[in-house]
Amino acid sequence: MGMTSGIIERYREYLPVTSKTPFVSMGEGSTPLVLSQNIGPELGCRALYFKLEGCNPTGSFKDRGMAMAIAKALENGSKRIICASTGNTSASAAAYGARYGLRCIVLVPAGAGDVAVGKLAQAMAYGARVIAVKGSFDAALRLVREASERLDLELVNSVNPNRIEGQKTAAFEIVDDIGDSPDYLCIPVGNAGNITAYWKGFREYWQVARARSLPRMMGFQAEGAAPIVRGHPIETPTTIASAIRIGNPASWKGAVAARDESNGLIEAVSDDEIVNAYLRLARTEGVFCEPASAASVAGLMKLPSLGVPLTGKTVVCVITGNGLKDPSTAERRARVDFEFVEPALDKVEALLVEGQVSRI
Ligand code: F0G
Repeated sequence: MGMTSGIIERYREYLPVTSKTPFVSMGEGSTPLVLSQNIGPELGCRALYFKLEGCNPTGSFKDRGMAMAIAKALENGSKRIICASTGNTSASAAAYGARYGLRCIVLVPAGAGDVAVGKLAQAMAYGARVIAVKGSFDAALRLVREASERLDLELVNSVNPNRIEGQKTAAFEIVDDIGDSPDYLCIPVGNAGNITAYWKGFREYWQVARARSLPRMMGFQAEGAAPIVRGHPIETPTTIASAIRIGNPASWKGAVAARDESNGLIEAVSDDEIVNAYLRLARTEGVFCEPASAASVAGLMKLPSLGVPLTGKTVVCVITGNGLKDPSTAERRARVDFEFVEPALDKVEALLVEGQVSRI
């Protein structure tokens, strides 16, 4: 594969690519599928893997769908793109927009902590126009849907089918790596585009016999932002996991279909469970993700109590975004008190004598 080959080049036969579709790539996709060293064995899994989507060019899975959406936007002659976002979609849209000369406008919820600082920094650095909506993500999404119809703006949220097409390639990669579908796929659910996309990908690979089986789709929402679990929209969603602080997901139907057709489930995990999984991932696996991403692992750890056996199962948890995007969560939840030392070897030695090392 070439230096910048991304998902369009790798999977073009499965994507809506025509002779007129431009080659768009920042090297997205082909992300690591990493075998769990501790969590999986403790749970009795045959194999637990983490799909590290934080290794994409802008640090989240959004780059897969964005590459496809931008390629089609260019093919259709669009000049401007717009999206609503809890941060990652806007970072990705801003990056691909900058690279391919499309003016990018992002609408983000304006509340303190609604968008993690790293994600906002990205949108600004890539030169997007950032509009803060005094309301929720759901309000911002409603606005961009309406605005894109009235004005000449290409909507690049996952209601754009090209986003789903690009994102389904992550399912292809999992099957290509392990030789079949896993027994379970655990995934955070926010606006529900990603679970919809993965299910589409697994089904398409199964239909052409690239996979012999289909996974059970296990989606997890944050307890205070769990409209699909509750069965109705949530007016004011709350959770530490700002990426999935969404009360009325656009792909609600797609998520329910993925759940029901796969004999899967969509359940809620509490913020405490999310933070616990976030720290376990970092401290026992070396995987630093953002809180929303840890919802997949929090959910996995909950499966036995929901009556779903893990013994002997092959499981993939999708780790959707990089921990560096949201440094303030780690600061607050993983704070260790520094030890201070004079700049002298004997003082450092005294600290590090075996038996005294406790807090590092
Ligand atoms: N994990 C992360 C890190 C996300 O940023 C998102 C969604 C999800 C999971 C949930 O995926 O929406 O397809 O169900 N972020 C969107 C955004 C809403 O604007 O960046 P989903």
